[in-house]
Amino acid sequence: MSYVIAVSNEKGGTGKSTTALNVAAALAERGHKTLLIDIDPSFGLTRMLGAKPESFETTIRDVLDDENPATIHEAIQELKEYKNLFFVPAHTKLAVLEARFEPFWERLLANALAPVVETYDFVLIDCPPGLGFFPINAYVAADLIVIPVQTEFIAFTSLDKMGSYLGGIPEDLRPAAFHLVPTLYDKRTKHAKEVVQELQKRFPEALSKHVIPRTVGFSDSSVEGKPFIHYDPHHAAAEAYRGVAEEIIEIWQSKNENPSAQAQPTS
Ligand SMILES: Nc1ncnc2c1ncn2[C@@H]1O[C@H](COP(=O)(O)OP(=O)(O)OP(=O)(O)O)[C@@H](O)[C@H]1O
Ligand SMILES: [Mg+2]
Repeated sequence: MSYVIAVSNEKGGTGKSTTALNVAAALAERGHKTLLIDIDPSFGLTRMLGAKPESFETTIRDVLDDENPATIHEAIQELKEYKNLFFVPAHTKLAVLEARFEPFWERLLANALAPVVETYDFVLIDCPPGLGFFPINAYVAADLIVIPVQTEFIAFTSLDKMGSYLGGIPEDLRPAAFHLVPTLYDKRTKHAKEVVQELQKRFPEALSKHVIPRTVGFSDSSVEGKPFIHYDPHHAAAEAYRGVAEEIIEIWQSKNENPSAQAQPTS
């Protein structure tokens, strides 16, 4: 059964696109057919893959358009360099959709994905920061929310906001589980260690055992348009992202055995 993951955090710059790309690449590397979708009008993920939105004939913008929509099939790009990895680019003009839609707008992405979702093992949706049109479309489509959390105390403010927001979404519409991934970890600072301890205390079940270290290699890999796990495959950060991918595979497998309670990131 296919597993759909929204990669989201209300706060900007926490490593959402980096996490979506590297976890997807790690799942694909493990032999799982994986679709990566960029629904951010700032197209951070599309850029990380070395692509320009204008160079694609069809993007997620056309798929979500209410006037003359394209099918998701038309927007899926095969990333030939990476086996099992497929990609739907974003477009700056995505932003106009937010203002246009009214009834049932929260189901647009789920409906668009329906014809292909079962042909993938994993679908990862890279959300823009904030809450609203794009994140809610991703949450409605998703089984799991992966929340990349920067290892700074300010992170808890966004987590609290997300908790209240998710709490307001009807249970049958929101994902059954969430998984927190500490990112941008600087082991030299006491502050970062304390944040991880606090996350551990507040979210003992949902916190990843893998912490993504801060390393300049991520910017370099973006310049090359490559997932970091392929740019520097033996680096500790690449191994950490592979570890996160393994955890997600376990959550996916256990979901099939135990379609359990709903969860939300409140402490
Ligand atoms: N572990 C890391 N170490 C160092 N730099 C990182 C790491 N993870 C991400 N970065 C860098 O931090 C910046 C923000 O990362 P990214 O774009 O993944 O965040 P985001 O949450 O998607 O941002 P936005 O909210 O703008 O979409 C990028 O320049 C990225 O290369
Ligand atoms: Mg991003």
